[in-house]
Amino acid sequence: MNDDGNWQVVERPAEGDAVCFDLQATMSLSDGAEVELVEQGFLLCFQGELRAWRNHCPHAGSPLDWVPGQFFSDDGESLVCHTHHALFQPLSGECLAGPCPRGLYSLSIQVLEEGVAVPLRVHL
Ligand code: FES
Repeated sequence: MNDDGNWQVVERPAEGDAVCFDLQATMSLSDGAEVELVEQGFLLCFQGELRAWRNHCPHAGSPLDWVPGQFFSDDGESLVCHTHHALFQPLSGECLAGPCPRGLYSLSIQVLEEGVAVPLRVHL
């Protein structure tokens, strides 16, 4: 998955919180055609570190958040997919428990004075 170098700026989330943003995604099909999708990403702050992930569970592809913008487990130590309750480490995206076959899909970030730049588009 690659971004195309186009960025949007979002506000820096508070510690233990996340902000969502729209993500234009292009998927190449086996016949060479391309499909445009509107997806979502989220930027989180955990232990003072920022990470951005695609809001797409690697298990069955659903968004992780059941309530929009709520990604953290009750104890605040992991990210939870509310569909089948897979758990992910917030900073590495690693699958900690549940049916996830791999970790989360990472997105690039750039920390700016006015906020955090995240990708506008990705190629899946
Ligand atoms: S879709 Fe996320 S755990 Fe199944």
